[in-house]
Amino acid sequence: MRSADLVVAGCRELVTCAGPLPRRGKDLRQIGSVENGWVASSKGVIVFAGSEDAFRAEVSPEPDAVTVDARGMVALPGFVDAHTHLPFAGDRAREFGLRIQGWTYQQLAERGMGIQTTVRATRAASLDDLVGLSIKRLDRMLLTGTTTAEAKSGYGLNLEDEVKQLEALRDAAALHPVDIVPTFMGAHDIPPEYRDRREGYVRLLIDALIPEVRQRGLAEFFDIFCEPSAFSLEETRTLVAAAKAAGFKVKIHADEFVSQGGTELAAEVGAVSAEHLIAISDEGISRLAASDTAAILLPGVSYFLMMDKHAPARRLIDAGAAVALASDFNPGSSHISSIPFILQLGVFTLGMTVEEALNACTGNAAYAIGRRGTVGSLEPGKKMDLLLCDVPDHVSLAYEAGRNPVRTVIKNGQVVVEDGRRVAPRFLRSA
Ligand code: NIG
Ligand code: FE
Repeated sequence: MRSADLVVAGCRELVTCAGPLPRRGKDLRQIGSVENGWVASSKGVIVFAGSEDAFRAEVSPEPDAVTVDARGMVALPGFVDAHTHLPFAGDRAREFGLRIQGWTYQQLAERGMGIQTTVRATRAASLDDLVGLSIKRLDRMLLTGTTTAEAKSGYGLNLEDEVKQLEALRDAAALHPVDIVPTFMGAHDIPPEYRDRREGYVRLLIDALIPEVRQRGLAEFFDIFCEPSAFSLEETRTLVAAAKAAGFKVKIHADEFVSQGGTELAAEVGAVSAEHLIAISDEGISRLAASDTAAILLPGVSYFLMMDKHAPARRLIDAGAAVALASDFNPGSSHISSIPFILQLGVFTLGMTVEEALNACTGNAAYAIGRRGTVGSLEPGKKMDLLLCDVPDHVSLAYEAGRNPVRTVIKNGQVVVEDGRRVAPRFLRSA
């Protein structure tokens, strides 16, 4: 018998997403659905997930164990948001207004707006400002079920302000239940002071920012915007080599608007993920499918930028790529942090099935940020990160479009959202 200090009892449908990661091809439809499902944990780690009969045979709750009544609810693993630009300051509502009048995202960028607007605001913000903003956003993300989030710097574009963004992530993580996986994205754009001598910024990244961020232990991943308007394929190759040599794992923003071989490079250098892929080439699809590099699709971008073009999710899945979905939460191209909404976009705009979209926001998303051993599914040994949704079945997560179905969030075995409201983390066991 396994002992437990927390029991989630009698879920109408329990979706475990259990199984080897990443899921590819037809396997992406397997969600491990159990009727009348039970989940138990001890000290924040899952010890059981399955049927009531198996629970009664295998688990012995401690005398003061807490039981959460999940009748009528669908239980899911906590969502993993594998791509966000969380610690930024300011907003781009005025530029959004211009886009509604017909300006494009690229036209704004060419006129010193876009990412540069947010760079100015983020440089002007203090560390405390960024910590406060990040916590506020993490609270919102938790309400829509995100329990682990990757988060990128990239609006400082100099040593001091990139470090400030990453320190804000470190400090916010210490104050908030959502687990943060930090990514250094000093190669998000060329800063204005280097516009006419871009090689100078590439050198600065190699000689100062990459080693300094690594040495301070502020980020696990290095990410770069490989796009003609930001960094060329050759610059990407040079910078990725420097980042790998310094000890970073690599992610690449590839083929977002224009294909220049970023996805092929990601597969070649063993990047953990290639992200966006709206403009991916046929060659890129086959290279990715044959590699361990995850394909992180961000349908919020096509939606938010009102584009007709979408990442070819069906072709990627059918070819065998490890497909994940994420929000790309940022002030310009996807001001969206709700994973339920992203899941719905995966279904409505990318042609994914609900089961595929669910795995893409949980297990495969965990794989895409190097966390497949600890989160992304409800199975023994993983963190007790669990959502209760008030929908009749998992299909209704998409069918009830536009709704946030998340009512309860358990993070590391503690209830942090109850009845759709944020509650202070409650220690579930009496001392
Ligand atoms: O992932 N592509 C580059 N970076 C972000 C957008 C950043 C911004 O517009 O502020 C993205 O889409
Ligand atoms: Fe992004």
